[in-house]
Amino acid sequence: MTTIKQIAVIGAGIMGQGVAYQFAKYDYDITLTDISEEALAKAKKEIRNIERLDKMLHKSAATVNVLDKITFTTDLGAVAAADFIIENITENISLKENLYQQLKNIVSDHALLAVNTSAVSVTRLAAFLKNPQQVMGIHFMNPVHLKPTVEVIRGHHTTPATIEATQALLHTVKMTGVVVNDMPGFISNRVLMLTINEAIFALQDGVATIPDIDKIFKECFGHKMGPLETADLIGLDTILYTLDVLLASYNDSKFRPAPLLRKMVDAGLHGRKSKEGFYKYDLN
Ligand SMILES: NC(=O)c1ccc[n+]([C@@H]2O[C@H](COP(=O)([O-])OP(=O)(O)OC[C@H]3O[C@@H](n4cnc5c(N)ncnc54)[C@H](O)[C@@H]3O)[C@@H](O)[C@H]2O)c1
Repeated sequence: MTTIKQIAVIGAGIMGQGVAYQFAKYDYDITLTDISEEALAKAKKEIRNIERLDKMLHKSAATVNVLDKITFTTDLGAVAAADFIIENITENISLKENLYQQLKNIVSDHALLAVNTSAVSVTRLAAFLKNPQQVMGIHFMNPVHLKPTVEVIRGHHTTPATIEATQALLHTVKMTGVVVNDMPGFISNRVLMLTINEAIFALQDGVATIPDIDKIFKECFGHKMGPLETADLIGLDTILYTLDVLLASYNDSKFRPAPLLRKMVDAGLHGRKSKEGFYKYDLN
């Protein structure tokens, strides 16, 4: 088994930032790539914030200077040097397929690749690469550094050795994977997206207010967050993309996105990352 030293993180949005932080914190050398210089600049700022908050919460947090461990670049070719690749780009099947077509000629023969997706089939993306047996899904939770349990997705081609190496890598950054088989949305999002979408339909129907919908889940069910707060945390654009992927994958109308969700995304209300979704945020 190859020793994993160099990790490439593709996509510097919410998830890419969190994943890059978590692995850099445990002393891996990270290359963080994105197509957008602006996204990389924002990621640098956000990673600094995550580090500051992590150090405030956990006195024993990073002993390394996390930003020293991360190289920020728009050059996808830099991924060639990685032993392990974690892909976190926008949840859009054609964008992801286009990227995997490029990765086919970049990824080194020994590298393992993890697809971080909310719902796209890992098998479908793995099929683009030369070594699909070295591809698995890791569905990280958000915020990554506060959610140590993840779903590890076994695609059609994924070998036991790939799953074993992935679990071992996760343990080195104090994370654990629950292994599930590859079906769109896995367990978490197949169930969660229906709940969030139905909460949005209920809001649209005027059944209850935004805070009351969330209150029912928190105070009646003991959830830490209600479905609308969760939607804001994930990003309403990502929720919409994920429902579209689930609808296309299962061809089942139960996944049709609520019109109110589409309207909010069209209006640029993407949740916390755009400072407004169902709630308003004043984040610095
Ligand atoms: N947001 C969540 O809570 C959450 C949780 C688990 C998994 N996911 C999944 O993780 C992935 C990323 O989600 P996110 O919330 O970070 O999205 P995001 O919109 O915050 O960030 C996506 C980033 O990908 C970049 N990008 C797009 N195309 C690219 C390309 N070809 N090459 C390099 N970079 C590219 C964009 O510029 C952007 O910076 C999605 O597949 C999503 O479903 C999200």
